[in-house]
This record gives sequence, structure tokens and C-alpha cells, in this order.
Amino acid sequence: MLTFLWKFTNFYFFIISCCLLTYVTLEDDSDIPAIAKYFNTKGRYEEVNPYLIDDILAVNRSILQPPSAQCQEIHLSAIIRHGTRYPTTKHIKEIQQLYNIVLRNASGEESWLREVQTQWTMWYTEDMDGRLVQKGVDDLKHLAVRLSKLFPSLISEEKLRGGLIKFITSSKHRCVNSTLAFKAGLTELWAIKDKEFDHAVNDSLMRFFDKCTRFVQEVDNNPSAVVEVDKFKQGPEMRRVQEKIADRLRVPYSLITHDMTETAFHVCAYEFAIKAVNSPWCQLFDDDDAKVMEYTSDLREFWKRGYGYDINSKSSCILFHDVFNRLNKAASDIKSGQQVSEAVTVQIGHADTILPLLTLLGFFKDSDALTSTNFATQTERSFRTSHMLPYAANLLLVLYDCGGGNLRLQPLLNEKPVTFPGLSDQQASMPLYEDVREHYRELLHGCDFETECQLFKQPTEV
Ligand SMILES: *[C@@H]1O[C@H](CO)[C@@H](O)[C@H](O)[C@H]1NC(C)=O
Ligand SMILES: *[C@@H]1O[C@H](CO)[C@@H](O)[C@H](O)[C@H]1NC(C)=O
Ligand SMILES: *[C@@H]1O[C@H](CO)[C@@H](O)[C@H](O)[C@H]1NC(C)=O
Ligand SMILES: *[C@@H]1O[C@H](CO)[C@@H](O)[C@H](O)[C@H]1NC(C)=O
Repeated sequence: MLTFLWKFTNFYFFIISCCLLTYVTLEDDSDIPAIAKYFNTKGRYEEVNPYLIDDILAVNRSILQPPSAQCQEIHLSAIIRHGTRYPTTKHIKEIQQLYNIVLRNASGEESWLREVQTQWTMWYTEDMDGRLVQKGVDDLKHLAVRLSKLFPSLISEEKLRGGLIKFITSSKHRCVNSTLAFKAGLTELWAIKDKEFDHAVNDSLMRFFDKCTRFVQEVDNNPSAVVEVDKFKQGPEMRRVQEKIADRLRVPYSLITHDMTETAFHVCAYEFAIKAVNSPWCQLFDDDDAKVMEYTSDLREFWKRGYGYDINSKSSCILFHDVFNRLNKAASDIKSGQQVSEAVTVQIGHADTILPLLTLLGFFKDSDALTSTNFATQTERSFRTSHMLPYAANLLLVLYDCGGGNLRLQPLLNEKPVTFPGLSDQQASMPLYEDVREHYRELLHGCDFETECQLFKQPTEV
């Protein structure tokens, strides 16, 4: 048994060190596309936290800074996006079309173009359909290990074995596999071989966007809901990008549609996220082009999941209440002198799960809406999916017991403290739990999923 454990531990370290090597080679900047920070929801988590490029398991506990040394973490709710995935079938078909054009119609002597034409192969196949890739498995395993280092008293072997860590996932294969990967990160860390840990599949909670009739009809399946996106795609900024790409490929402008342009941008992003390569496809874009592409995607997210329509965020009422119910339960356990029965809840879903909730809570709200005509004045916007929602993005809510009946709640996005917008507290990054509840009082007393999701109102712009 000892020998076995020893081998197992060795194996684990082998995995870690092999991955570290991969990341170390990435330190050579030329392996990172210059435009990698504009990849929206197709971005790599390491771009959001660049210190991870050197050490994927690095954690800095001093970012937590509780107001007094007395404060102890008692509950963590972690809402996590799945890890890096393959393109969906629809995107794979588009990549094939674009590749055909570059093969048949493009000309020129640039080395990157020749590389695409003679060395790059169309390795994506339709059956890959959005599945989690190996890098995505690693994303979640590494996140699990980092969170256990950040919150050692909550994400501990004892708590896991004691059933105090609960796992809930969306039914989508990439989410279920991400959940398995997160659990594997912990069981491998602690070399647990004698026990398996359950997870619950709950789409009402993690895919609420599919179940909210009003959202589905008025926004998700309603082409006119994204009229600003269509206008931007027809507008001067996007036209300029299309022309530059056509010029770089030496093909007629008519051959490069805005959809082709988006596809080319996706290929660069996927090649980097999945294979960690700076693909020759990336040479189709300069920094200015990439900013236009990033805005297009942010514009779509704004109108489909963000502040564009009230129902976008209201569709997450069920998750909002679920999270606060868990926090309340932990708070009341503590107040009645009991052990907290659910120390950690790990909930794995989608970008579409996290963005409506962030919006409901008021995060990343700019003074102006994102529209087809204000690209130039929105360069400093806070609504930036490249920062908010890379693969394995996570919203953490950490409840602390600071003694004397004082509970505090700290929100973190992607392992960095954030402050609840509009909460005027000097210790806003770790406000009193009571103040947070007061701040969201209206939502806590309303925000009823069934009521909000009924079909009876017109979409309201904010
Ligand atoms: C850790 O975080 C603290 C507080 O933000 C910062 O002052 C310190 O430089 C960080 N340490 C490292 C090694 O990054
Ligand atoms: C692109 O190449 C294909 C195959 O050679 C050809 O049939 C088509 O006419 C070309 N399109 C344009 C716009 O040049
Ligand atoms: C995801 O899970 C399925 C079913 O368990 C498995 O067949 C597949 O290999 C997994 N994929 C990855 C990347 O782990
Ligand atoms: C899913 O979560 C919701 C909200 O917490 C809960 O009411 C429901 O019972 C759960 N469904 C399943 C199948 O566990």
C-alpha cells in the first residue's frame, strides 16, 4: 500500500511538473499571440492572471485581507465556468469554409500565409462539438488545487471526506467533465483512492437561461434583440477590418464577410487556448482589428446576457436565491453554535450562467449602454468579457465569521477580490453580510424566477 501511494504521489508530481514545463516554454512571449487579451469568452484563464504562466498553482493568500485576524472563513460558494473546450459543430463548419477560401483563393508570399496553406491542417472534426479538451481538464484540476491553498480550512481533505463539500453541475458534457476534473484535482492532491464523491446535475439552476420562457422568446430566439450587434457588423469599424483581412489574403472584399472575420478570430483563439500555439492565423489581425472583434462579442453579450434587457439578469433569480439560501444556512448554523453543514458548494456551469448573475448583482455596469455607434467612446468600458469570462472563470463568495456575531462576505472574481457595486462601506471588499443583504434587499424579497420568466411584458431596455 505504501509503495502504491508513493507511486501515486510521484505520478501526481509528474503531471504537475510536466505541465509546468509546458507553461515555462510559454514564457517566450512569441508563443502568446499579441491579440490574446481580446479573446472574450474564448480566452485563456492565464491571460486574466498572468502570474499563473510562471506557476499554474501559485496562490497569494494575502489578497484576502480580512479586517481582523479573528475572521475565519466558514462557507464558500463557487460558481465556475467549464474549462477550455473545442469549437461547437457550427463553428467547426465555419472554420472549414474559411480554410477553403484561404487555400483556394488567397495568394501572397508572406510566411504566415504559406504556413496556413501548406502546413496547417484542418484538424477540427464535427464530432468535437464543444467538448472539454485536455487543457480544460487541467484548468479545473489546477483551479481546485489553488482554491484548496487559498481556503485551506474549507477545501480540505477532512471536509471532502466528511461530505461537507457539495458539487452541482449543468448536464452539458463539458460541465460534467469539468466537475469530474475539479474533484480529481482534489482527490489526486490528497491521494484519495478509497472513496468517490457525488455530484448533482441541476439544469434548473445551472442552465436557467434555457428554462426562462420570457428570456428565450424575447431575447435568445429574437433576432431583433441583437439589432445593435447587426448594425455594428455592418458598420464602418467592422467593414475596415474585413477589408484589411481581404487585403492580407489578396482576395476580393466580397469573399470576406463579417462572419468569416469572426471565424478567423476564433481560429486564432482556439489554436491558442487548446494547443497553446501562436497560430499563423493570428497574423490576420493587428491590435486595432482585435479591439473591434472584442467589441463585437462584448456587444452581443451585453444585449443577450448583460444589461441590454432586464430579463437577461432576472433569468438568474433562481441561482441568486440558491446562493443566498446557502449563505443564510451557513450564517444560521454559526449563529446557533453549530458546525456549518455545507462548507463549500462548487457549482459548474457556463459563461451564460455567470454573466446574468454578475449583471443581477450590478457588476461591470458602465454609465452608457454598449451600442453600434459608441465603439470609440467605450474603449475604457468595464463590461469586458475578456476579463470577466475566460475559460474556468469563477465567482467566489466567501462568508467569514469575524466573532461577536459579525459575519462578512467577500466576493472574488477569477481569484481576485472585487467589491459589491454601490455598497458604500469602507471595507467594501469584505462588507458585513448584513449590509450585503440590505443592499440586495429588493432582490432578496422579490426576483421570483417563475414570475419574471412568464411571458407578459415587452423587453425593457435599461
Ligand atoms: C500578494 O498580494 C499582496 C496584496 O495584494 C501584494 O502586496 C503582494 O505583492 C503579493 N505577493 C506576491 C508574491 O505577488
Ligand atoms: C475561389 O476559388 C475557387 C476555386 O479555385 C473558384 O472557383 C472561385 O471562383 C474563387 N472565388 C473568387 C471570388 O475568386
Ligand atoms: C468526458 O467524459 C466522457 C464520459 O465520461 C469521457 O468519455 C471523455 O473522455 C471525457 N473527456 C475528457 C476530455 O475528459
Ligand atoms: C435544483 O436547484 C433548485 C434551486 O436550488 C432546487 O429547488 C431544485 O430542487 C434542484 N433540482 C434538483 C433536481 O435537485
